[in-house]
Amino acid sequence: MEKFAGVELERASLPSEQVVGVCDLVLREVRDAYDAGFVHADMSQHNVAVAESGVTVFDWPQAVATDHENADEFLERDVTNVVSFFQQKYPQEMPDDVGYRALAAAIADGEFGSVAAFAAE
Ligand SMILES: Nc1ncnc2c1ncn2[C@@H]1O[C@H](COP(=O)(O)OP(=O)(O)O)[C@@H](O)[C@H]1O
Ligand SMILES: [Mg+2]
Repeated sequence: MEKFAGVELERASLPSEQVVGVCDLVLREVRDAYDAGFVHADMSQHNVAVAESGVTVFDWPQAVATDHENADEFLERDVTNVVSFFQQKYPQEMPDDVGYRALAAAIADGEFGSVAAFAAE
């Protein structure tokens, strides 16, 4: 693999107006991977790079196929890890109540667009 552009999500200091958008970009990568037949199964702020050009998800050796018996459990854990990282680091910008399970189901259905759609009323 080529060297990725940018810095790890953990080390990035995102401007307020980009927080939800970057979270959405990461989750769309998770959606696209699922659509291609894979669940990463170790998603975290340590395995995502952020650059001007976009986001890169790396560290895939433990990924499982979407027909793995635990794939949906891993997917929900991945989604929870990503969104809760953003919520903890950027509490002002992120919705504080997100339906992780519904969000994971939307990813599995290929219907995910934005985390904003999964915030409690
Ligand atoms: N393609 C890459 N380009 C630049 N740095 C990378 C790349 N892949 C991994 N790294 C760096 O190496 C670290 C560890 O890589 P990773 O694939 O996450 O392995 P693991 O977490 O299993 O040790 C990353 O956090 C990152 O800093
Ligand atoms: Mg890693």
